[in-house]
Amino acid sequence: MKAIRKTLIATSTLCAATSVAAADLEVTHWWTSGGEAAAVSELAKAFDDTEHNWVDGAIAGSGGTARPIIISRILGGDPMGATQLNHGRQAEELIEAGLLTDLTELAEQEGWRDIVNPPSLLDACTYEGRIYCAPVNIHSAQWLWLSHSAYEQAGLDVPANWAEFVTAAPKLEEAGIVPLAMGQQGWQQNLAFGTLQIAIAGVDAWRKVLVDKDAEVAAGPEYAKVFQAAADARELARSSNVQDWNLATNMVITGKAGGQIMGDWAQGEFQIAGQVAGTDYTCLPGLGVNEILDTGGDAFYFPVIEDDDIKAAQLELASLIVSPKVQVAFNLKKGSLPVRGDIDLSTANDCMQKGLQILAKGNVLPSGDMNLSADTQTQIEDLMAEFWTSDMSAADAQERYASIVASAD
Ligand code: GAL
Repeated sequence: MKAIRKTLIATSTLCAATSVAAADLEVTHWWTSGGEAAAVSELAKAFDDTEHNWVDGAIAGSGGTARPIIISRILGGDPMGATQLNHGRQAEELIEAGLLTDLTELAEQEGWRDIVNPPSLLDACTYEGRIYCAPVNIHSAQWLWLSHSAYEQAGLDVPANWAEFVTAAPKLEEAGIVPLAMGQQGWQQNLAFGTLQIAIAGVDAWRKVLVDKDAEVAAGPEYAKVFQAAADARELARSSNVQDWNLATNMVITGKAGGQIMGDWAQGEFQIAGQVAGTDYTCLPGLGVNEILDTGGDAFYFPVIEDDDIKAAQLELASLIVSPKVQVAFNLKKGSLPVRGDIDLSTANDCMQKGLQILAKGNVLPSGDMNLSADTQTQIEDLMAEFWTSDMSAADAQERYASIVASAD
């Protein structure tokens, strides 16, 4: 197989060099939970089927831990061959410094503009008209994951929306079950807050705040309701003391918690645990209130490295990432949606089918990483970390949030 691929690549227009030697490509990412590891191994397998070798550079912890390490390695002159980041504005600084490979030629040869769906994903990889990343998936944050066994133990029906979830909480607590699982990290608390914004304040108010950066709406009555809902959610999560998101998902899987607000990557954990959507757990997009999802997700960036073999390996990986084969294999394990609409995902489970339908209807929004600079995101995550772990009032949190929005870039 490697020999065949080698001949193909050697004659390909992508690689002007007459021959390409096998290269070891270090690929950094933060996919270390069970479901994530299963997905990334699909990518590694496909790359190892070429003449090149995947050198796994997993960084344990969350994106919040991994991103500064990734970025400082590139800035500090110790670049990896390829790296995961969320598509959006996280790589802006690196692109401006000329440290990331321009993939425009490859993207044009392969027609990414016609393939990638929605087109906003490729826009999120584009800087001043040039393409710098290969999107691998669409991940949305706005999901409530519910444990059937938890509700059964408490003698309750599985809630159909956020209001029912809140109403059911006291009975769950009586049965010794934590209503809301929550990992104690700012990005997870902020993810839940962002999801509540869309469900409680609605899309119009959300757009004014997150897209137009309208601090008056952030300080106004619609957002006061969101902060009150976040304060209520904080109460429901007060006996959840895990850190990592997948440990919180595990509380739902094992019936120790009623639910978790988490992105659709949680799907990978249920799958690895052998649970079946609709039988063992339920997923409610938009908290069962507002079926609209953001189109965040992951993309691979390729630091500039002056070595022809590495460059060829980088382009090969970029090309594989958007290929139909990898799109199917990777996303089925990851719980994410593919970045192209022309592939067969009929084997996807209930939750992914719900996501695909929402995407097909075009009920999508840009993600926080697309709307806000990395600096603004960090300020909001820090505020959320403080809010969720203290008794800060909803009004105080709202005031501080509105002032971050006022100076957001
Ligand atoms: C996100 C990433 C996902 C997911 C999650 C938790 O930033 O887009 O792929 O795995 O972090 O690690």
